[in-house]
Amino acid sequence: MNTSDCILKGVRGQMLTFKADPFFNSEKDCYDYYSDGLLVILDGRIAAIGDYDDIAPVYPGLKDVDEYHDALIVPGFVDCHTHYVQLPMIGSYGDTLLDWLDRYTFPTETRFNDKGFADEVARVFFRQVLANGTTTANVFSTTFEASVDAFFQESERYNTRMISGKVLQDRNLPEALSDISAEESVALSETLLQKWHNRGRQLYAVIPRFAPTSTPMQLRLAGELYQRHSGRGVYMHTHLDEAENEIEWVKSLFPEASDYTDVYRRFGLLGSRSVMAHCCIVSDREWEGLHDYGCGVVHCPSSNLFLGDGEFKCFDAKNPLRPCNVGIGTDVGGGTNFSVVRQLGEAYKVAMLHGNSLSALRCFYMATRGGAETLGLSHAIGSLKPGYEADIAVLDFKPDEFVEWRMGFAENLAEKLFILQTLAPDNMNRATYVAGKKVFDRLRTGSRFMYAADIR
Ligand code: GUN
Ligand code: ZN
Repeated sequence: MNTSDCILKGVRGQMLTFKADPFFNSEKDCYDYYSDGLLVILDGRIAAIGDYDDIAPVYPGLKDVDEYHDALIVPGFVDCHTHYVQLPMIGSYGDTLLDWLDRYTFPTETRFNDKGFADEVARVFFRQVLANGTTTANVFSTTFEASVDAFFQESERYNTRMISGKVLQDRNLPEALSDISAEESVALSETLLQKWHNRGRQLYAVIPRFAPTSTPMQLRLAGELYQRHSGRGVYMHTHLDEAENEIEWVKSLFPEASDYTDVYRRFGLLGSRSVMAHCCIVSDREWEGLHDYGCGVVHCPSSNLFLGDGEFKCFDAKNPLRPCNVGIGTDVGGGTNFSVVRQLGEAYKVAMLHGNSLSALRCFYMATRGGAETLGLSHAIGSLKPGYEADIAVLDFKPDEFVEWRMGFAENLAEKLFILQTLAPDNMNRATYVAGKKVFDRLRTGSRFMYAADIR
């Protein structure tokens, strides 16, 4: 194979990748595991993956191989819902959703009119996300253009595949954060869409925050914008059915709608690129609607527990008669950490509250390929497969002394995964590769983070 002109790199170690949904198929048929695997990267994409002994002879010119022992190489995690603009107030005490928004969230987001502030927060956000092995996230910015530009500019530096956009919100929030007019706000969103969508790996979302903070006019224009561009892969991202008093408020604001999902439907906001965060309190009729429109739904357990919202019913969302794609969201700053793996530990406990046990393989599926499906990106990310973008996390089976000891009692891969998600140690992630480049290395001396342009 003549690959002399291209950048060729290898990663060797244990590997896990999913190829089917373990909610609907026998678990053992849903994944590939290599006890000594070799993944070959060529110009940012996966060129080959398989057993080391099979793949290595095909690439005799492959000299640059990163080897990982006592670790598991997996697709980079997909965080299907979070807010980078809430970093400065993560871990704020003592309120449920609507009061928490008023007291902490809205005042903080008001500061993102300042580009310098937005740049600083974006820089910190990407470091947290990459350190935790997340390579794609679906992210709220806020009202201001500066908040969108700061986010995408930092994403471009790492060459991460990220989704964001301007948040549309023109009522029921402080004046300084509120859009001045529905028309202007949606026009600005379209300008930013033209600027950022498909620029490199960046993808754009139309983001009405949630029904209560948009006038009917803004929701209508947002729906039209989404419908005009969804064929090009533009998203609609919002919150849905998170908490009881939020749902009551939506009923009083939109009495003509039959339920909260119907509000979005009426304004043209449902479709196969629509991503709905939370979905804790969802009627059967709403699940059917979400299924019929092909919407993705996002389970944000850390946030739901922290805000006392309610519990996501994973097995309702995955009802085989009307299944939805389900991804995992950290929902920072309602969520209290950046780790998708930690969310899995919480998701297990939430399912137990409803008498269901959620296996580790199902969990890791939702964190990788399932997340990619939720975002309509499962042809490009979320799996370790030839042709896919080489976004990779390397999970450490020996992140600290105790977990190393506990792992000694695990008898198979599923048990090891469950230990990781349940004990969720810091330093769980050894390294993160983005489009084939190692942008995070826990053991690197000097900075653990590197921008793509600084890596050969
Ligand atoms: N609903 C509307 N805005 C928000 C937000 O910022 N966080 C959460 N968790 N729910 C919301
Ligand atoms: Zn949220």
